[in-house]
Amino acid sequence: MPDRRKFLKRAGYTTLSALLTMGFLQKDKQKEDHSTNTLAANYTSTNGNSPLRQLAAAKGKRYGAAIDGEFLQIEKDYANLLARECSIVTPNGELKWNATEPQPGKFTFESADAIANFCQKHNMELHGHTLFWYTGNPPWVPYPPTLQMIERHLTGVMGHYRNSPVLKSWDVANEIIADNENETDNATYGLRKGVKPELIRDLFKIAASVDSSKKFCINEFGIEGATWKSDRFLKMVEYLKNSGVKIDEAGIQSHLWFSTAYAFDEKGFNSVLKRLNDLGVKPRISELDIIIDTPLPDSIKKLDQMVADSYKRYLDLCFAADVDTVITWGITDRHTWIRHPDWMPAKFKNNPSMQPFLRPLPLDTNLQPKLARNAIAQAFQ
Ligand code: XIL
Repeated sequence: MPDRRKFLKRAGYTTLSALLTMGFLQKDKQKEDHSTNTLAANYTSTNGNSPLRQLAAAKGKRYGAAIDGEFLQIEKDYANLLARECSIVTPNGELKWNATEPQPGKFTFESADAIANFCQKHNMELHGHTLFWYTGNPPWVPYPPTLQMIERHLTGVMGHYRNSPVLKSWDVANEIIADNENETDNATYGLRKGVKPELIRDLFKIAASVDSSKKFCINEFGIEGATWKSDRFLKMVEYLKNSGVKIDEAGIQSHLWFSTAYAFDEKGFNSVLKRLNDLGVKPRISELDIIIDTPLPDSIKKLDQMVADSYKRYLDLCFAADVDTVITWGITDRHTWIRHPDWMPAKFKNNPSMQPFLRPLPLDTNLQPKLARNAIAQAFQ
């Protein structure tokens, strides 16, 4: 995960790339559409308060969220909410390298196992996030790690969950594409500096040699449209497929920063979804949260409406392309990562009066449903 400086660039990059590739700078016909129906839709559905996991399952899909092991232990209402709404969860940090192998060859699974036990108790799947990332590593792990470190890590961590009844999929690689062409030494695939495509190929091969019974995913942000990054990401996926490695799914993180004009590159996003399906790599929405920030609307009520509209329009596109897994990065604004001081975008950090507008998730800080939850429910229906 980038430090704040990089994160702000990233947020800026994401916003900038989103604005540029979503036609923000042109008069957007959708803006009129959007503004005309903005306050109309309240997304009340016939099954208004049915669990999202149930609405999803009725269509052969899954809804889930990032789960935080610490709050799971101390907040009963939070635990009950996740059990009610989610059929799959992704640990916020408990399966990252710094949590599972803090010292070379010394594995610690207590926090991850607590989540796995919770999943087993409530008939939920656990998505393994993540075996390889450029951050979230202990100090002794460089980026890229050596193949020997990768082999030992995957043998230890994947081995521990080989027979798990709840863990069915791994993010084998997370955020391997650089943010832009200045941060890569590989023009074709745009990998972060110091990483060759062969290393990623070998990473997936090692994963398959340890446990090929799970789904293997490659997870990325900033690919929700026709961008420099999505072009390199798709080329990298194609390279991996052509290298004969097992790769089943592609996680489109979907941390969406929308301007209030809501200009969205539907064509570009559809092309990413189609290209992945053509490559035989199933797209999954892996870390969805939606922030409206440029400029802020003049009321929380209006903000919630815009966020809900964005959820509905984004998920309609996803489901039209047969996406069947949607995971929001958290389920309640109480624990969204974006309110954490380390990750809060500068404009909110510098203007505390704006912070109440950080409402990216389906339920509010009191675990009450928001319009966004209704919109997600309706999208599933
Ligand atoms: C974030 C967590 O939500 C934070 O709590 C943690 O401090 C840093 O990582 N992309 C990813 C996730 O793949 O693992 C990141 O999660 C958010 C961005």
